[in-house]
Amino acid sequence: MWVLRALAALAASVAASLLPLDAEQLHASVGGFAVMNCHLDFPFGNEIPYHLQWDKDGESIFSWYSGEGAARVADRWGGRVRRVQGGALGRGSINVSAVRETDAGLYRCRVTFPNRTPPARNNGTFYYLTVDGGNLIVTPPMNVTVLEGERAELECLPKSPESAVEWFKDGTPLGELPELALRSERPANGSLVLRRAASTDPGEYECRVHDPDYPDLQSASAFLDVQYKAKVVYAPKERFLPYGKPASLDCHFSANPPLTNLRWEKDGFLFDPYNVPGVFYSRNGSLLFNQVDESHEGEYSCTPYNSLGSAGPSPGVRVRVQRPPALAARPQPLYVARLGATLTLPCAAAARHRDQPLVHWARKDGSELPAGRHNLDDGNLTIVDVTEDDRGVYVCTVSNEAATVDVETELLVENMPPRAPYNLTVRPATDSLHLSWVPGHNGLEVDYNVWYRERTVSEWRTMKILTRGVTEATLVGLRPGTEYELRVLSQDLIGDGLFSKPVFARTLGSSDEEGIEAEQVAYAAATTEEAELGASGESADVGDLEVTVRLIDEGALVRWRRDPSDATRCTLRWYEGAPPGERLLATGHTLHDYMLVSGAEEGAHYWARVQCASGASGGAALRVPEYARLRGVAAGCAAAALLLAALAAALLAARRRLCARSPPPARADKRLR
Ligand SMILES: *[C@@H]1O[C@H](CO)[C@@H](O)[C@H](O)[C@H]1NC(C)=O
Ligand SMILES: *[C@@H]1O[C@H](CO)[C@@H](O)[C@H](O)[C@H]1NC(C)=O
Ligand SMILES: *[C@@H]1O[C@H](CO)[C@@H](O)[C@H](O)[C@H]1NC(C)=O
Ligand SMILES: *[C@@H]1O[C@H](CO)[C@@H](O)[C@H](O)[C@H]1NC(C)=O
Ligand SMILES: *[C@@H]1O[C@H](CO)[C@@H](O)[C@H](O)[C@H]1NC(C)=O
Ligand SMILES: *[C@@H]1O[C@H](CO)[C@@H](O)[C@H](O)[C@H]1NC(C)=O
Ligand SMILES: *[C@@H]1O[C@H](CO)[C@@H](O)[C@H](O)[C@H]1NC(C)=O
Repeated sequence: MWVLRALAALAASVAASLLPLDAEQLHASVGGFAVMNCHLDFPFGNEIPYHLQWDKDGESIFSWYSGEGAARVADRWGGRVRRVQGGALGRGSINVSAVRETDAGLYRCRVTFPNRTPPARNNGTFYYLTVDGGNLIVTPPMNVTVLEGERAELECLPKSPESAVEWFKDGTPLGELPELALRSERPANGSLVLRRAASTDPGEYECRVHDPDYPDLQSASAFLDVQYKAKVVYAPKERFLPYGKPASLDCHFSANPPLTNLRWEKDGFLFDPYNVPGVFYSRNGSLLFNQVDESHEGEYSCTPYNSLGSAGPSPGVRVRVQRPPALAARPQPLYVARLGATLTLPCAAAARHRDQPLVHWARKDGSELPAGRHNLDDGNLTIVDVTEDDRGVYVCTVSNEAATVDVETELLVENMPPRAPYNLTVRPATDSLHLSWVPGHNGLEVDYNVWYRERTVSEWRTMKILTRGVTEATLVGLRPGTEYELRVLSQDLIGDGLFSKPVFARTLGSSDEEGIEAEQVAYAAATTEEAELGASGESADVGDLEVTVRLIDEGALVRWRRDPSDATRCTLRWYEGAPPGERLLATGHTLHDYMLVSGAEEGAHYWARVQCASGASGGAALRVPEYARLRGVAAGCAAAALLLAALAAALLAARRRLCARSPPPARADKRLR
């Protein structure tokens, strides 16, 4: 013992070089650190109980018995002496940090083995520490850990009371952190004292001490850690989870030291996901639902814990399960609108209990809905006075808290004449034919009429399709084993319409043999003579418009040649008798430059008068030969005012008129033979 005392006395007063020992020289600066190596050096290499002790100038600063919990550290050294290991360092090594000027001196590491004699193998390992730069700071700050709300002091004692001490937090001068400055004190001893540490205060604090006489500066820094019980920082009042989908329910907490445990309650009872199928804990404490259903509804609360405990449970989070919005009405995929037309795109969300989904319309390209030309009525988007600019894709979005559903529809703006229905397909049965077709227009509001007749009988029958958008029909009450001709007439709101090309189909089964023979002959006659049809239209000069009338298979085709730039509507008046006509039979309107009139009678005279809105007008006469051997004429009621693009009323009137005068079709067929 006397040796140590002597050494201590020496170290305190005599220069290190005068020490009669092989002590290793170490240097550290104020605020820095010094690592002192010390090997445990077990006898025969076997680990046995030991006692590790570090002295400075003869006073114990660190003492640890193997197997004991915590080491004993002398007051002045608390938090500044830590055992370190790794690299070439022995297991008894220490790291002295936040070095102070007064730390200079002689250190000894001594390892003893209490169960052995002799207990020590040597006199210990010696270090002599010199502290440099201690001219400004006497006591530098050291790492401090406090509980939230507690007082925290970071020391920085300057050597000269005249020195100015400045504090920085994470590199920012304290003066620029008013909130922190307000909660802190700056006593004359240079310390920074936080009256009540907050959870936002942790960081690196640096003090800078200025020499009062020279432009000299010294700094030292340490970390402040503020610990608190695990606490909930945020909890929503309500959470909507999407039905049938995976979802997570988060617990938003904050904890230092870190979270050790987290507890969920549901409706006041402990909720343990291990006991609930399809629910799991995620690593961060969130509840994970594999597939949300109504059983997951309820009031949830979470309580986070760390080693300090818990600040309490979260307020209740009302979890509601919401099904994605359903559409009660959705737009068709495609609309075709005429210039100037009014168009309504339907879209509506199905109303559900405690859930009113939002319906929103937008253009997909992000442009605005037409200003002043659209209105929204309970989800339906109506665009009036359609212009070219309105063409594009529109998106109806229906959303609730759970999900968002999009429906797209495309609007085409039509400035072309309509197309006839096409691709007529017939499925025959014994006494019926099922007919389907493809509309010439997709989405345009069109009415359809199916025209059909037995091939040998020229009398047309019609069937109006009452439901918009239906493109099929079943014609019933037909004769078995009989060939039929079918056509589809489409008519839009304006009145323009077109006939499809005809299809021919035979009903199943067999009819009586004579009938078949007769029909076939008639059919042959009609088709072979088609080419010889004599067109006997005569142009009559009654205006500038060049009009022609020609007999074709279907009847009389009236055509006119007008200025190509003239796109106005024209009206055809069809008279009986020589020009200027004795009796008006039918009137039709069209945007086209032709119209077909059926129902011409053998030997009769007709007069066609065309007047267009542009002012152009003209006429043409037609005389049907007495002996004409063509189905269109011989058919009598076949005519039925087959008016292409004619107004319905005009059609009807003309049909009645012409049918009354027609000879029985059977007789006409016989004559053809
Ligand atoms: C000793 O402590 C200081 C300050 O905490 C640290 O920067 C240094 O890396 C430590 N040295 C060793 C060897 O652990
Ligand atoms: C321990 O110190 C004593 C007295 O100074 C000395 O005689 C002895 O040799 C030292 N032992 C070792 C192992 O250095
Ligand atoms: C001080 O705290 C910092 C940051 O937590 C850490 O890196 C450093 O090792 C600590 N120093 C001491 C001596 O504990
Ligand atoms: C520094 O001064 C303050 C206020 O007088 C005091 O509370 C604190 O303990 C002092 N710090 C030291 C290390 O003496
Ligand atoms: C927790 O983890 C889940 C997935 O594991 C994630 O969805 C959720 O956002 C996380 N919550 C928080 C608060 O980080
Ligand atoms: C929206 O359009 C649909 C379908 O066209 C219709 O049934 C419904 O009545 C319209 N709703 C309103 C509010 O106009
Ligand atoms: C024509 O109709 C047939 C049978 O209905 C169908 O398979 C085909 O796709 C149609 N063609 C067009 C161009 O619609």
